[in-house]
Amino acid sequence: MKKILVTGGDGQVGMELQSLQKNYPVFEMRFTDYKDLDITNGSEVDAFFAEFTPDYVFNCAAFTAVDKAEEEVDKALKVNTLGAENLAKAAKNHDSRMFHISTDYIYDSGQNTPYIEGDSAHPGGIYAITKFLGDKVVMDILPSTIILRTSWVYSSFGNNYVKTMLRLGGERDALNIVYDQIGTPTYAHDLAKAMMDVAQKFEHKEIAPETSGVFHYSNEGVASWFDFTKAIFEIEDIDCDVQPILSAAYPTPARRPPFSLMDKTKFKETFGLKIPYWRDSVVACLYALQQK
Ligand SMILES: NC(=O)c1ccc[n+]([C@@H]2O[C@H](COP(=O)([O-])OP(=O)(O)OC[C@H]3O[C@@H](n4cnc5c(N)ncnc54)[C@H](OP(=O)(O)O)[C@@H]3O)[C@@H](O)[C@H]2O)c1
Repeated sequence: MKKILVTGGDGQVGMELQSLQKNYPVFEMRFTDYKDLDITNGSEVDAFFAEFTPDYVFNCAAFTAVDKAEEEVDKALKVNTLGAENLAKAAKNHDSRMFHISTDYIYDSGQNTPYIEGDSAHPGGIYAITKFLGDKVVMDILPSTIILRTSWVYSSFGNNYVKTMLRLGGERDALNIVYDQIGTPTYAHDLAKAMMDVAQKFEHKEIAPETSGVFHYSNEGVASWFDFTKAIFEIEDIDCDVQPILSAAYPTPARRPPFSLMDKTKFKETFGLKIPYWRDSVVACLYALQQK
């Protein structure tokens, strides 16, 4: 059986991978979080690889607190850059294939058409910079890596925007939400399934073994945070008046790109996989939440 090591296994994508494990019996999966495997500790990473000898490593571990990263620069750099580097080095030594998750926030060049993978990165805040450096170091060490750049991730697991809006929508009569940041929400379940499907396709030799590099993966379609919130409330029939505001009226410590839409043609054509429309996936996530 082929073995997959998942880091950040208690996070949103990690938990979704855990829920999907049963559908992919061809893989033995080991889920770790920083308590079992701190990716910033190089010798711990090496020892773990020596014991488990993974065929794949899915790096879902990250410092994802975008605003906090502005103050905790060292920590963000350690997890998002050094941690990724440690994993890439170990994966290289063990001939493992690495799947590494990255972010749309590295695209902040003022463009207003969808970014493609070859576009140059202009990371605007500490989180984005540390993630971009992580992408770079991983590709330098291990060019066989699959980097999946995603955006606006939510899930029925963990804390996220959907859960915050469900809570606030229940507590308040009205909310002001920014409408001048454009991107695409991504259901972590869809991203996790895409990772499993791609790994399975490698195993079934449906993809050329030399396939590697950066790929965009978000849900399909376009939204602002305002549209995202409106959809959540409409689907859940929550009576809360949502008003659009400009980002300038809601200042945050970290800069967010006003437009970070990503073109996903390369992912779909390379792997022959379809991507769900973002609103359909919000419905699926809200349904999953109801089942809990
Ligand atoms: N969330 C988004 O909106 C978003 C958008 C674009 C891209 N991404 C990327 O998608 C990936 C997955 O994101 P996510 O939303 O699933 O993140 P998440 O829910 O924050 O999960 C990340 C996990 O990594 C763990 N972790 C932190 N430091 C670690 C360390 N040193 N060693 C091992 N594990 C560590 C975290 O533990 P603690 O919680 O205990 O710290 C957490 O369980 C990340 O690469 C992220 O940058 C996320």
